[in-house]
Amino acid sequence: MNTIPPLDLGRQYRALQDDINAAVLAVLASGQYIGGPQVTQFEQAFATYINTPFCISCNSGTDALYLALRAFDIGPGDEVITSPFTFIATAEVISMAGATPIFVDIIPETFNLDPQQVQSAITPRTRAIMPVHLFGQPADMTQLMAIAQAHALPVIEDCAQATGAVWPDATGQPQKVGSIGHIGCFSFYPSKNLGGCGDGGAITTRNSDLAEKMRVLRDHGRSSGYIHEAIGTNSRLDAVQAAILSVKLRHLDRWNLQRKAIAERYGQLLGNIPGITVPPDRGDSVWNQYTIRVAHEGDLQYLRRSRDRALLSEADFVLRARGVEPPAPRRDRVRVALAEQGVQSMVYYPLPLHLQPVYAHLDYELGQLPIADKAALEVLSLPMFPELTPPEQERIRNSLKEVLPYC
Ligand SMILES: Cc1ncc(COP(=O)(O)O)c(C=O)c1O
Repeated sequence: MNTIPPLDLGRQYRALQDDINAAVLAVLASGQYIGGPQVTQFEQAFATYINTPFCISCNSGTDALYLALRAFDIGPGDEVITSPFTFIATAEVISMAGATPIFVDIIPETFNLDPQQVQSAITPRTRAIMPVHLFGQPADMTQLMAIAQAHALPVIEDCAQATGAVWPDATGQPQKVGSIGHIGCFSFYPSKNLGGCGDGGAITTRNSDLAEKMRVLRDHGRSSGYIHEAIGTNSRLDAVQAAILSVKLRHLDRWNLQRKAIAERYGQLLGNIPGITVPPDRGDSVWNQYTIRVAHEGDLQYLRRSRDRALLSEADFVLRARGVEPPAPRRDRVRVALAEQGVQSMVYYPLPLHLQPVYAHLDYELGQLPIADKAALEVLSLPMFPELTPPEQERIRNSLKEVLPYC
């Protein structure tokens, strides 16, 4: 029995093999591996795609977010409001800049920042709002921009999982995420909708001053030659990655449409299965992940155990493991049973950021952000990539139907 993986990058590579190989070989033959025309061309093509005048490529989505914070001089004593239900990088960069992440709860249907909660968390120390367009679904940019504007705060969009997604402006015209806030931050990690063959990232903005500042910061704070005007970093996109991304960018809209069709088919196949909830299809997601919920009946104690485990010493851990522990969420049992049937799935994310050991000093309590806590116990991301076939989706549906009653 073949295994259905959560994503299959080999299928995508094989479909574009000739073009990607030619692009890589051209860079190798050119002898220019850092900077140069491939990088400039990709930056221009990506700026055009997102519809912003400026795009600054960099080494990763993490760096993009970090450079964005630095562009606003955010540092010690400052607060940045963000989601607790995202990859660690979103909050990590706030801490790296010396500021404090302020986690507020999410909306259950979209897993994205709840604008009301953002509004309530604003203090005199707030310096930015950082929404995440999680799993490909845009956050509510209309409300978030209105709140930001009312408080004169910049919005840094974490677009890592939503390249190509759109959100309507005041006139109903669709605008790409990354062109709506003050700065958009993208990741080209291989699993993203536009993924390279290694690490990569980009920053988009309409503001020429911010663009110039981030361009300087990503290259050792260099204004020219060996003149350095700021403490920056080394965060450049390789020419090889830029060449590969330029090839792939031409296919992004088609891939996103394929992802939409797969999500629609999942909705039809899984919509009536008791015990699971499929994500609402609002028409604006680019489906980096297709994330269902497996209802969790118990309390939140299992999350406490996850956190304690991480904080405990090995000896404590062994003692605890011998005691009576709360049962694992049903979602985990479903995941294991699916894997036994050859269907692999992922849990993004099993422990929300406010409960991570690294943020224990911020003193968030279990249940303080209950929607994020519950999401962490229920989410299960099914295989999702443009080349996933209808028969594979049917097999996933059949496996789910089979395992759910005994999980
Ligand atoms: C929501 C989110 N933000 C930031 C990042 C960081 O991107 P990178 O891995 O390119 O540093 C990722 C992905 O890994 C992500 O999913």
